[in-house]
Amino acid sequence: MEKSIRVLRVGQRYVRDDRTLTHLCLVSRALGAESIYLEDAEKDVVGTLEEVNRTWGGEFKAVLGLSWKKVIQEAKKEGRKVVHLTMYGVPIQEAVGELRKEGKLLLVVGGPKVPGKVYHEADYNVSVTSQPHSEIAALAIVLHEIQSGEELKRAFQKSRLRILPSARGKRVVEN
Ligand SMILES: C[S@@+](CC[C@H](N)C(=O)[O-])C[C@H]1O[C@@H](n2cnc3c(N)ncnc32)[C@H](O)[C@@H]1O
Repeated sequence: MEKSIRVLRVGQRYVRDDRTLTHLCLVSRALGAESIYLEDAEKDVVGTLEEVNRTWGGEFKAVLGLSWKKVIQEAKKEGRKVVHLTMYGVPIQEAVGELRKEGKLLLVVGGPKVPGKVYHEADYNVSVTSQPHSEIAALAIVLHEIQSGEELKRAFQKSRLRILPSARGKRVVEN
């Protein structure tokens, strides 16, 4: 089944963390999500992603400025299951069987502080170990588990450049 996976990053920034936000976008794009919602980010993030799409293909989108409540409400209206990643949740290895059966998902990750309501609004609260770590790492592992590794084989359409994987050095061709 072709899946539609979107990502939401909840939370306002206390400090500028554009690098974290950019990495969340790049990981989402590379590992099979179609878009990311960022509540609070600099507009440069969108420009960076457009440039990445032009060079490396695909149509990944970043949507800025919508509140997490609105994004979750809209997701539920269209039958998209909301999966909140949190160290307090059910281990991914227990939840993944059910998640693989879902066609449309919204994966929610937090920043410095996640409002308690997110835990209640989510259809699933899922952990990647019960240890604290990083939203980028948790997201990558959950994307990988849900898609059973199929996302690693995906070709990105309409790229300007394409890598020819090699054991040594860099081989890149223009399309
Ligand atoms: C740096 S943590 C901050 C967590 C914060 N103490 C809170 O209020 O939840 C940022 C985000 O990383 C993700 N995260 C961190 N550890 C995780 C884990 N073990 N499993 C799943 N997600 C995790 C969660 O999405 C979390 O909101």
